[in-house]
Formats: sequence, C-alpha cells, structure tokens
Amino acid sequence: MSRLDSHIRQKIAQRDAIDLAARRLGDREGLIVEFGLGTGRSYSHLAERFPSREIFCFDRRDVAHPRSRPPADHFYIGELLAVLADPTLHHRFAGRVMLLHLDLGSGGPEDETVPELVVERTHGWLAPGAVVLSDQELTLATAWCLDAVDTRGQLQHADRYHVYRRPEG
Ligand SMILES: C[S@@+](CC[C@H](N)C(=O)[O-])C[C@H]1O[C@@H](n2cnc3c(N)ncnc32)[C@H](O)[C@@H]1O
Repeated sequence: MSRLDSHIRQKIAQRDAIDLAARRLGDREGLIVEFGLGTGRSYSHLAERFPSREIFCFDRRDVAHPRSRPPADHFYIGELLAVLADPTLHHRFAGRVMLLHLDLGSGGPEDETVPELVVERTHGWLAPGAVVLSDQELTLATAWCLDAVDTRGQLQHADRYHVYRRPEG
C-alpha cells in the first residue's frame, strides 16, 4: 500500500473515532485534552463535534492554522514530558477529562514510548466513563483503569485508530 493510501486510512479512522466518541459521550460534562495539536486539523474536528466543551491542547511546536487553533490559555507549548512535570497542571485537570485524544505519531522511534508515557502521567485526569483515542496502540497498565473498545464495524479501518474507555464508577 502506498504511504498516501495508508495516511488516508488512518485519517478516516481518526475522524470516525472522534465521531464515535461524540456519540458515546453525548452531553456528558467534562474537558477535552488533545496531545499533538500540530496544524489543528483534528482540533477543528473536535471543536465541531463538541461545540460546547473546553478543549485544551499540547504540542512542542506552535504551528496551528489560524482557523483552527485554541485560545492561548488553552494551549500548552513545550516538550510533553517536561510540561507534564508541572504539578499545577495535574491539579487543574485531575478527574475532569472526558475525552483524551492522542495524536503524537511522527513515524520515528518515540512513537513506541511517548504515548504510553503520556497516559502514565495523565490517567489521573480521566473521569469515570472517559474515552481515550490514540493513533498508536497502547499497552495498558492496570493502574490506568482503561479497557480497549472493539470498534470493528463502527470505524472504517478500525485497526488504524485505537479507542479505550474507563469504566463508569
Ligand atoms: C501527527 S502530528 C499532530 C497532527 C494534528 N493532530 C492535526 O490533526 O493536525 C503530531 C504532533 O505531535 C507533536 N509531538 C510529538 N511528540 C511530542 C512531544 N514529545 N512533545 C510535544 N509535542 C510532541 C508534534 O510536534 C506534532 O505536531
């Protein structure tokens, strides 16, 4: 398969995963956090699907398109593992996040480790029933209290975007 076809498949799966999360989460209250804002394409889709929710984004680079960038006070710029060392951040988000979107893939070796390091540091942010979407498949630690969701039949190219859910209560 060409890299273009592979990329298109992943983007279709990503869009379908966000749409699935919007259907499942409905009117549930809570914050949305995106790790990997990039140019803001997935941010713009999250903002459309969750119009009344606060969305906070993280990235080491500030390259978001002007039409799809979060307000400055909702955008944390820097290396994730350094930014996530700030305890005030954990106080701000603890138990309040209903959707965590990880889109950190670069095609390099850090794809193997960074997403799991990020979830290791932020699983305390998740509310009961929260959904986690990830471009990389995660090896789940018990302490994260997350279950993999079988999305076959619900997402096109379901093997290209990964959906997890924290059980209710
Ligand atoms: C695939 S792109 C994100 C695409 C974006 N969600 C979109 O739809 O436009 C991955 C992003 O993750 C960011 N990223 C990857 N590893 C990071 C790290 N360790 N710290 C901060 N940002 C990181 C990169 O800078 C890049 O912008």
